Amino acid sequence: MNTTFQKDIELGLSATNKTLPSKYFYDKIGDALFVEIMKMPEYYLTKAELDIFKNQTNDLIKALKLKPSTFFELVELGAGDGTKAKQLLNALDEQHFNFVYAPIDISEHALQNLKATVNSELPNVKICPKQGDYFNVLADLKQTEHPIIVLFLGSNIGNLPDARAIEFIQKLNDNLKVGDRVLLGVDLIKPKSIVLPAYNDAQGITKRFNLNLLTRINNELDADFDINNFEHKPEYTETEGVARSFLVSTKDQSVTINSMNKTFYFSKGEKIHTETSRKYNDHILKEILGHSDLKIIDRLTDSKNLFADYILEKTDS
Ligand code: AVI
Repeated sequence: MNTTFQKDIELGLSATNKTLPSKYFYDKIGDALFVEIMKMPEYYLTKAELDIFKNQTNDLIKALKLKPSTFFELVELGAGDGTKAKQLLNALDEQHFNFVYAPIDISEHALQNLKATVNSELPNVKICPKQGDYFNVLADLKQTEHPIIVLFLGSNIGNLPDARAIEFIQKLNDNLKVGDRVLLGVDLIKPKSIVLPAYNDAQGITKRFNLNLLTRINNELDADFDINNFEHKPEYTETEGVARSFLVSTKDQSVTINSMNKTFYFSKGEKIHTETSRKYNDHILKEILGHSDLKIIDRLTDSKNLFADYILEKTDS
């Protein structure tokens, strides 16, 4: 069996600078660990964005230029448990806005749970979950003449290297009509003393999240990684604004992946790059948007100025 997972792992471990794609963090165990990460005191991102959604809900509605009389589709990419979106849904419902909430996720299970909680907590809100790839679903939605508001929260865009983020924004742009808007949540560039602990918590949850990638390879590709021989090591440089996570080999060792009949060698101190978490400022975001027709029309930050929700609008130029 030669799956995409297997191909990606083989490609990453064969490179001179070894790498493993961070999208593979999210199996059942990884999903549960990420829920724990979001609750950690050091992981300020989720709390900061929730602060905006809780305490500036009406400002968000105004910034998104929503009108109670105009029906719109509120599409959320990678909705998860919808905690932040529910703050907005509640305010829109109370103020009698006319809309449908369309969370998009690759996981049918996550969507079922979200539908159940929205139905019970906000019974008046119309929810129409769509399972699948973001862009396939957006392509279908493009057929509608109603305005579309896209939520892409949690600084998820930051896990894409800049070149891929540019492509992502271009694709998003191509699937929107002039006038459609995007609420893009991004983590802001800030000192190392705040960023690094978010990726190196005292309880070691992020370490387990990172090492789970090796366990996943062991289980799914019949490999013999000894996770005790790898250390979790995040790095961050404020000038660049990029946090990177690595797994560092603590000794000279070889690892065999039986399903591909291959052995990989790791020297002591050799690093596997497992994740990029970019942080932003206006300048960096404008560079990324510069290849699209999406323009920044507003920006809201939390009370500690850690995180920003940018409002983008598709223009006709
Ligand atoms: C999902 N993503 C925005 C998280 C981040 O901050 O890059 C994933 C994460 N990795 C380690 N901790 C959290």
